[in-house]
Amino acid sequence: MASPYQSLVILTGAGISAESGLGTFRDKDGLWTQYDLRDVATPEGFARNPALVHEFYNARRRNLLEAAPNPAHAALADLERQWPRDFLLVTQNVDDLHERAGSTRLLHMHGELLKIRCENCGDRRECRQDIDLATACPACGTPGYLRPHVVWFGEMPLGMAQIEQALAACDLFISIGTSGNVYPAAGFVAEARRQGAHTVELNLEPSEGHSVFAEKRYGPASEIVPAFMRALL
Ligand code: APR
Repeated sequence: MASPYQSLVILTGAGISAESGLGTFRDKDGLWTQYDLRDVATPEGFARNPALVHEFYNARRRNLLEAAPNPAHAALADLERQWPRDFLLVTQNVDDLHERAGSTRLLHMHGELLKIRCENCGDRRECRQDIDLATACPACGTPGYLRPHVVWFGEMPLGMAQIEQALAACDLFISIGTSGNVYPAAGFVAEARRQGAHTVELNLEPSEGHSVFAEKRYGPASEIVPAFMRALL
């Protein structure tokens, strides 16, 4: 393998799943143009109107079960298989398209849509059905405490210690399909650059943080990601 790079961190966002039919958040018809994120993606919103929040995630879960990975997901799984050294794929996405494409060295920093957790007993498990206030926790049997295992605004992202460690050691950082609006993910490029990594943005259009990246390619993920990964190997 010819790549001069040894230690790789890849960050993905909603843009990598857009061509699989999953809505992004801040694009023209994005989810946050249809819903107020304070109502459906905050603990306060859940306390105020849990039925609305369940409806929102039930619809996204159903949509996800209809979707399939695209060539961008496949290219990352392929790269991982051929990458002999440090490799971490950090996704902000709550969909399971990376896993379905074959990615394994993967961390969901904003949680997973196909998992639920009980706020009464702490049980966490897979869930492919709709849930609502009447749904009893499969572990403790108590209804009314189940919520999607996703990270809402104001909550701590998952796996930050592992991410920080990987960023501190990486010599290549690639960001794919994210607008760079949400921290801490939006700050990863500066961290990677600070410790000397080469930084690459692959996106449909320049992100909020585009000026920080050393290298940039713009276009649909299903086209630019496979091409870039092939050139990397
Ligand atoms: N190919 C490549 N990039 C695309 C494509 C595509 N087909 N379609 C859209 N994009 C780009 C857009 O240009 C935009 O920059 O993907 C980005 C999507 O940005 P957002 O909708 O803001 O999604 P993301 O950056 O993942 O949001 C971060 O915010 O709402 C929260 O928790 C949620 O994880 C999410 C976080």
